[in-house]
Amino acid sequence: MMPLIDSKALLIHALKNKYAVGAFNANNMEVAQAIIEAAELEKSPVIVQISQGAIKYAGIKCISSIVKTLAKESSVPVVCHLDHGVDYSVVVKALKAGFTSLMFDGSSLSFEENVKITKELARMAHAAGIPLEAEIGRVPDSEKGPLTLEEMKKYYTTPEEAKEFFEKTNVDSLAVSVGSAHRMKVQSAELDIDRIYEISSMVNAPLVLHGASGVKDEHVVRAIKAGITKVNFATELNKAFTNSLKEYFSQHPEIVDVRKYGESARKNVVNTVREKIQLLNSNNKADDVLKYISDNKFFESDKNLNEIVE
Ligand code: G3H
Ligand code: ZN
Repeated sequence: MMPLIDSKALLIHALKNKYAVGAFNANNMEVAQAIIEAAELEKSPVIVQISQGAIKYAGIKCISSIVKTLAKESSVPVVCHLDHGVDYSVVVKALKAGFTSLMFDGSSLSFEENVKITKELARMAHAAGIPLEAEIGRVPDSEKGPLTLEEMKKYYTTPEEAKEFFEKTNVDSLAVSVGSAHRMKVQSAELDIDRIYEISSMVNAPLVLHGASGVKDEHVVRAIKAGITKVNFATELNKAFTNSLKEYFSQHPEIVDVRKYGESARKNVVNTVREKIQLLNSNNKADDVLKYISDNKFFESDKNLNEIVE
């Protein structure tokens, strides 16, 4: 059995060793199980993330308990992360519910407001031994249709604002806008790789790529070389789960047993997550990460984390 870990040492290990950790969104039990099963098969550390939308859908205690229970039974290190906490109160609730990594997303606020709230939440999270991710610039949403390059550029993170934001907030990782968009159903986005190099030369922290489902594989690999160390996938998993169900029902219209089609959808998500883990090159890193964590204490309360989140 491996511990439920926080994301601080994990992302620093990834940054130093030039790979990235996949952060996969779980909206239900089957997807959470599939993410961790894939990580176990690949001997990879993994971040299971729960969005504010997932909390609304499943309930914070229910969904986080599922992830934490699976994490504690897993053979690889697992992080339980809050994805896109846009409300201050939700970030605080997630901290109290035992999430081992948090994100505050103030990207829709002014720079000053984003700094103010992020800084306050970082202080609070650190007091509890939990790292905080924040966003500067804005990763747009493509649900109403694909964005043109010109539209995308309006959302880009500038290296200067990233530096100032990082220095003023004391966050542990930084989500940046470099050409990806949320909810893309086709892998067509190309990233501004030079921008990532420039940001990482000015910000000494793990950088996070959101909206990775729509990014071309080759660009994900180049982004990691440039300094991206956490890569978020949600839409790819939703597609894998839902497409599997559609196919299953077209072949077995008579089936009503939840377990039958649930199993087929879960298997499809396992395969998708395994492919992404290999792309990010985090496979076979689980043992190295655990050794790195035991050799380096980043937060005083780390050793009590499993008891704290009980
Ligand atoms: O925070 C979650 C990810 O950024 C999801 O991105 O819609 O491309 O899967 P995606
Ligand atoms: Zn995102």
